[in-house]
Amino acid sequence: MKKLYIRTYGCQMNVYDSERMAEALGGRGYVTTDSPEDADMILLNTCHIREKAAEKVYSELGRLKALKAGKPDLKIGVAGCVAQAEGEEIMRRQPMVDLVVGPQSYHRLPELEAKAGQGEKALDTDFPVEDKFEILKSRPKAKRGPTAFLTVQEGCDKFCAFCVVPYTRGAEVSRPVTRVLDEARDLVERGVREITLLGQNVNAYHGAGPDGADWSLARLIRELDRIDGLARIRFTTSHPNDMSDDLIAAHGDCAKLMPYLHLPVQSGSDRILKRMNRSHDRDSYLRLIERIRAARPDILISGDFIVGFPEETDRDFEDTMDLIREVRYGQAFSFKYSTRPGTPAAERAQVDPDVASERLARLQALITEQQRAIQDAMVGREVGVLFEKPGRMAGQMVGKSDHLHAVHVTDPRAEIGSIARVRITQSGPNSLAGEIV
Ligand code: 5AD
Ligand code: SF4
Repeated sequence: MKKLYIRTYGCQMNVYDSERMAEALGGRGYVTTDSPEDADMILLNTCHIREKAAEKVYSELGRLKALKAGKPDLKIGVAGCVAQAEGEEIMRRQPMVDLVVGPQSYHRLPELEAKAGQGEKALDTDFPVEDKFEILKSRPKAKRGPTAFLTVQEGCDKFCAFCVVPYTRGAEVSRPVTRVLDEARDLVERGVREITLLGQNVNAYHGAGPDGADWSLARLIRELDRIDGLARIRFTTSHPNDMSDDLIAAHGDCAKLMPYLHLPVQSGSDRILKRMNRSHDRDSYLRLIERIRAARPDILISGDFIVGFPEETDRDFEDTMDLIREVRYGQAFSFKYSTRPGTPAAERAQVDPDVASERLARLQALITEQQRAIQDAMVGREVGVLFEKPGRMAGQMVGKSDHLHAVHVTDPRAEIGSIARVRITQSGPNSLAGEIV
């Protein structure tokens, strides 16, 4: 048996892809290992979304060079969005790289591995027409943990002015309904109780249904809702413009759909939203949040923000802070704008990096305050918790609440994979604690 070590960077779609890559190489006699020193092949599944993410790859490759010097048979591969964006350039900068494979070509990994095994350089960054998911179907019926990701949609047609995703992941594609349902049933048979549907624009899902019609995400969720043994459904990431009425309604009446929604807005300034090519404005976003809260009053809203986007003024930034105050986020990810080569915003006047840092710090302080207030308000309430793993203290279990808060419980009934009603007794900086009722 040869050993495979995969390091995953970036988003949850990469986590899903890394699992599929491990399975694809399983067919070539590889088993996964947690230690790069033991590996016969190391794959870096990379992220290109911001400069920092892309740079990490080259510093990691620098470190791996030493490892390979002592072990010439070791194969090193770069997968993911850096592979797609930079292709051959990676091998030019780091000649010890044997294999470069883009996110749409993972089903070709076995051939690429064979080529690399013969000492040839192997590269594939095509956008092939065949369905990589179909060919990557998992072989072994191995037992799984209680939660799993399931990619249902990939790519993006929105072309926000700052974003590389439409270039690295390509155009929007939805997987057919039956394949998604089959994969979900298979996961449930293997012990999964919660499935998070993934897509760069997951709520734009429109997969071909068995009835010949295109199914919306809401229709897909309603069908998943009927799978016995599946207890929870989540989805991420969504674009405000694709939040359809039926999806909003599903949040109100679909029992397994969890009260959590990641709905990035990026900025609260109409001027900046326009320049970002977001095709929604501040007001339409706020009204949308209102409608979602009318359908599911306790829903926890999460978001993404970019500060220091080209030409962002103090006034624009204050508009973002105002919007945050109005929405009250339970969770958010915020970033300093990072110039991405080839995107429209890269050509524009950049904001002073110190100004951007200061804005980011203020925004993050506000989000932390809101997050904490929402978390503290859970004390005394009863929530559903799915237990995922042992905690650090003896006898302790950690799980996620319906609202995706980490919850610690010390109780022998809290078994991995079980769901219990828990009364929250404490709120800490990053998690809640409670007792099974
Ligand atoms: N700079 C900073 N943040 C970015 N994001 C996407 N592109 C950039 C960029 N060039 C952020 C957005 C997106 C999240 C996944 O990453 O907020 O929603
Ligand atoms: Fe990037 Fe915008 Fe597409 Fe999201 S919607 S992946 S931010 S281009």
